[in-house]
Amino acid sequence: MKSIAGKTVLLTGASGGIGTFITRALVIEKATVVAVSRSQRKLNDICTEVTALGGKAIGIPFDISQVAELPNLIQQINQVVGQIDILINNAAIEKYRPFHLYTLQDIQSTLTTNLVASMELTRLVLPSMLAHNSGHIVNIASGSGKKGMPYNSIYSASKAGLIMWTDALRQELADTNIGVSVVCPGYTAAGMFSALGVPAPSLARVAPPEEVAIAVLNAIKKNQAEVLLDGLIAKLLFSNFQLFPQFGDFLYKLLGMTKLNKISAEQQMRSSD
Ligand SMILES: NC(=O)c1ccc[n+]([C@@H]2O[C@H](COP(=O)([O-])OP(=O)(O)OC[C@H]3O[C@@H](n4cnc5c(N)ncnc54)[C@H](OP(=O)(O)O)[C@@H]3O)[C@@H](O)[C@H]2O)c1
Repeated sequence: MKSIAGKTVLLTGASGGIGTFITRALVIEKATVVAVSRSQRKLNDICTEVTALGGKAIGIPFDISQVAELPNLIQQINQVVGQIDILINNAAIEKYRPFHLYTLQDIQSTLTTNLVASMELTRLVLPSMLAHNSGHIVNIASGSGKKGMPYNSIYSASKAGLIMWTDALRQELADTNIGVSVVCPGYTAAGMFSALGVPAPSLARVAPPEEVAIAVLNAIKKNQAEVLLDGLIAKLLFSNFQLFPQFGDFLYKLLGMTKLNKISAEQQMRSSD
C-alpha cells in the first residue's frame, strides 16, 4: 500500500505510550484513525488532540481481551466509518514475575490481550480485505519475542507467537494485495518500558517513540515483512541467538538485562502487596 492517505485504520492501544505516537503519525498522513483502548478518558484526550490538528480520529472504548465480543466491535466500526483498510495490533500488557509466581489468570490475560485478540481481529477484518484485494495488517511485537526475557516470560511468549503467526500469514497472503508486517521495538522512551521506572541496560539503545511510529508507516508503505527497531546489530545478534541460545543468555546477563528484569519483578510484587 503505497499511500495511507484517506485510509481507515483500526489501531488498538491508540491511547497508550507508543499508540499515541502512531496515531499522530497516521493523522499527519491523512488517515482516519479508529482508536481503541479501554479508557474513555485517554481516548478522548488523543481524539481531541487529533481534531485540533485538523485530523480525523474516532475513539471506541473496548476491552479487546473480551475476544468473543470482537465481532460487535468490528460491526460497530463498519457502521460508523465503513471498511477497515489497515489494522494495527498494538495493544499489549506485560507483568514481571518469576514464572512460578504467575497465576493462571496472568497467563490467560497476557496471551489473550497480546496474541489471541490480534488473531481474532485479523480473522474478522480479512474477509473484507480479501473481497477488495487490498489492506495491510501490522502486528507490534517486541525484541522480547526474538529472545526470551527472563521474569517477563509470558509477554515474551506472546510476542514470539505474534512474530511466527505474522510470518505464516504473510506467506498465505503472498498472492494477494494484502500486506502483513511485524514491527519489533526494543527499549522505547515511552509506554510500558518508561512506566517500569528502571534504567535501560548501559549498552542498550532507548529509541524515541516517534521512530517506532515512522517504522510502522514504512512497514505499510514498503510492505516490509519484519522490522527490528535496533537495526542491523539487533538482526545479527538475534540470528546468532537462534543458533546459540546460551550465548544470548550470557550476553543478557553481561548487559544487565536479566538483573534489571528481576528488579522489575521485585518492584511490581512489592507494589501489589
Ligand atoms: N514501550 C516499550 O519499550 C516497548 C518495547 C517493545 C515493544 N513494545 C510494544 O509496543 C506496543 C505498545 O506498547 P506501549 O509501550 O505503548 O504500552 P502502554 O503504554 O502500556 O500502552 C498500551 C495500550 O494498550 C491499551 N490496552 C491494554 N490492554 C487493553 C485491552 N485489554 N483492550 C484494549 N486496549 C488495551 C492501553 O489502554 P487502556 O489501558 O486504556 O486499555 C494502552 O492504550 C505493545 O505491543 C508493546 O508490547 C513496547
